[in-house]
Amino acid sequence: ASLQSLNTFGVAARTPCLLELYDTAALPAVLGMPQMTGAPWMVLGSGSNVLLADDAPGAVLVFRTEAISRAADRQGHAIVLAQAGVSWHRLVMWSLQQGLCGLENLALIPGTVGASPIQNIGAYGSEVGEFIARVQVWDLQAGRQDWLDRAACHFAYRDSVFKQQPGRWLVTAVEFALPLQRAPRVDYAGVAEELQAMSIESPGCADVAEAVIRIRRRKLPDPAVLGNAGSFFKNPIVPAGQAAALLAQWPALPVFGGDGDATRKLSAAWMIEACGFKGYREGDAGVAPSHALVLVNHGHASGAQLLALARRIAGAVQARFGVAIEPEPRLVGAQW
Ligand code: EPU
Repeated sequence: ASLQSLNTFGVAARTPCLLELYDTAALPAVLGMPQMTGAPWMVLGSGSNVLLADDAPGAVLVFRTEAISRAADRQGHAIVLAQAGVSWHRLVMWSLQQGLCGLENLALIPGTVGASPIQNIGAYGSEVGEFIARVQVWDLQAGRQDWLDRAACHFAYRDSVFKQQPGRWLVTAVEFALPLQRAPRVDYAGVAEELQAMSIESPGCADVAEAVIRIRRRKLPDPAVLGNAGSFFKNPIVPAGQAAALLAQWPALPVFGGDGDATRKLSAAWMIEACGFKGYREGDAGVAPSHALVLVNHGHASGAQLLALARRIAGAVQARFGVAIEPEPRLVGAQW
């Protein structure tokens, strides 16, 4: 089967076997199928955070479970359970329609609920880990269902226990705890300005979501129009001393993190743009004209071509700034 419509880069890769799961209860039976016991299989969410550098060697499992439900409130929080196959943005809009706040800064992030804890999706000052009570998993080692609470998930910037131990668990559902009292978070650069431009003085959560949606639509290419997987590189985290030395040489380099921190996060987009790659194109593999962190497929780029461009960009940033940048999406069929 073709995976072209199952990855937002639109790369034409294939799998020998595509399995779609509509009911988590069927998971043990699916995992026992002969197609799952030979070549290594993998799970795809909506393919918005993966680069298929080659064909999938084995079966591809897609979660189509789409239920969202709300349980009784607990300790000042609304409790929401969403199945792995739910579209992330649908969950954000559903929660706002219920009058629940928390997920508004994460509006319009592509992908599914099941993928959200794996890389701890984050944007505009929020990360999903803050709002997760626990994650329902299938433990592939123990061969049974389990729950991991927030602490066990080891959430960090674009990181979690699921990323650290790939192949150990499948995420089947996520339970969210959304604060019933919450002041909208508008401190990330650009959000307050956008609300001002919208003439909104005391914004509610839905207004913040609208502002975030407007910013994203302006800055980030729509994968339905121009294939991409969002930020292709993570913002590198370096010792504070190294950040200070870089700032001395390049005063305009955006550096995130407070004075007390031992490390600082650098803007990878700024460094990539400084190396001249913004809007750059090599065949059909390119860098978005609107955001230097986003690799794009102008049509028929292969995964290998996109990866070659990514390596060239990382090499240029390393040579100029002495900083290693690493891909954010999962690579299939290649090692970074
Ligand atoms: N910048 C440039 N050139 C560019 C784009 C940005 O110099 O082409 C500079 C801007 O001047 C700005 C800074 O980089 O000062 C930060 O830009 P932006 O606010 O767009 O954020 P980012 O650090 O580039 C991260 C996330 C995004 C998320 C935004 C907003 C990562 C890897 N990316 O990008 O997440 O939407 O912050 O919170 O952390 C994603 O992960 O796929 C993603 C899009």
